Amino acid sequence: GAKDWWNGVKGMGIVMDSVWISWSAIHLIPSCHCVRMITEPTSFSAESYFATQPPPATLEHDVQRVREWTQKQVAAGRRVVLVTSGGTTVPLELNVVRFLDNFSAGTRGATSAEYFLKAGYAVIFMHRQFSLQPFSRHYSHSTNPFLDFLEIETDGGSSNPSPRISVTPEKRADLLEVLKMYKAVHAAETMLTLTFVTVNDYLWLLRAVSQELSTLGRKSLYYLAAAVSDFFLPRQKMSGKGSLHIEMDQVPKILKPMVDEWTPDGYIVSFKLETDTELLIPKAQAALERYGHQVVIGNDLHQRKFQVVFVSRNNGSNTRDGPQFIENWLRIDPALTHPGLEQIKEIEEDIIAELVKKHTAWIQAQTQANKS
Ligand code: PMT
Repeated sequence: GAKDWWNGVKGMGIVMDSVWISWSAIHLIPSCHCVRMITEPTSFSAESYFATQPPPATLEHDVQRVREWTQKQVAAGRRVVLVTSGGTTVPLELNVVRFLDNFSAGTRGATSAEYFLKAGYAVIFMHRQFSLQPFSRHYSHSTNPFLDFLEIETDGGSSNPSPRISVTPEKRADLLEVLKMYKAVHAAETMLTLTFVTVNDYLWLLRAVSQELSTLGRKSLYYLAAAVSDFFLPRQKMSGKGSLHIEMDQVPKILKPMVDEWTPDGYIVSFKLETDTELLIPKAQAALERYGHQVVIGNDLHQRKFQVVFVSRNNGSNTRDGPQFIENWLRIDPALTHPGLEQIKEIEEDIIAELVKKHTAWIQAQTQANKS
């Protein structure tokens, strides 16, 4: 049992590429259970995936919310961005106690969503339940617990029956700034939040939201920062009880149908996460060739907070003789990203500024091409 288990885990490490194993989940496996991982994947097409895997129970309700919200944004003439954020889980059994997880705190997505809102975009923030969210991320429970910002006013003595709560003076200015924007976004209804947990929830939601947003045509932008599992356990293979056999299949690459069918006029930005910087550009180029979308943003696991690379097709005037792809590094000083600093710099600010420029230029170029 133990040897099989270890071989399985080793095999999984090799084959599963960007899937991160939630060790806490693995540790929950009772010792009497034998776990064998069979890592020869079956390939699902997107079509066969959606024909065989059940939709999440909340899908209809979510689609209705997206539809109504999108109509308001269209009426207001706004551009809309779908930001996906956080990791997806892969449940290992029907009654889920154990699951695999993908690494992501949701920092990239939550931070980017704020900068998109600042840039005037309306945002659908589709995130992993309990991962970081725009605005509240500034007061995350682990790095900046919000209770530490509050004081109990004791005037009238500690026996005062209704003591008042106030914000620590040195924290007020920052909190006020975040709160103002949060309230403004609420009042203008420019952000809609959707949640997913499993990779199955994610895929169904992504398809449905893309199809709804396709009515916006070029005014829709897709910013796919979620960390999506490459492997999943089809429902038909999940055991209800007894020993745990894990035979995983490959998650269909959904960027292809997204570009070709679900939202052909949208501007699609995907992310590529690597642990070896050397691989970023070749893998990003391969993704652009394979899926035909607009931009891949490459990020290295350990440097992602201070450098990323934009890879896109070269559509400039020197296309014939010039390179097929262009790459553009964005870098900020790592020293400015430390959470403890008074004024920190977030690379997402520059990423979004660059994307807004690219999206605008792309809309203009497409409109021009249609006229001539
Ligand atoms: O949240 P943080 O802690 O800040 O971390 C942010 C991040 C590192 C997770 C983020 O910046 C990032 O890189 N996200 C993408 C990670 C990832 O899943 O990469 P990938 O190589 O597995 O997928 C590449 C792209 O293909 C992704 O945009 C994904 O949306 C898409 N994809 C993935 C799986 C799948 N079946 N179909 C897809 O189309």
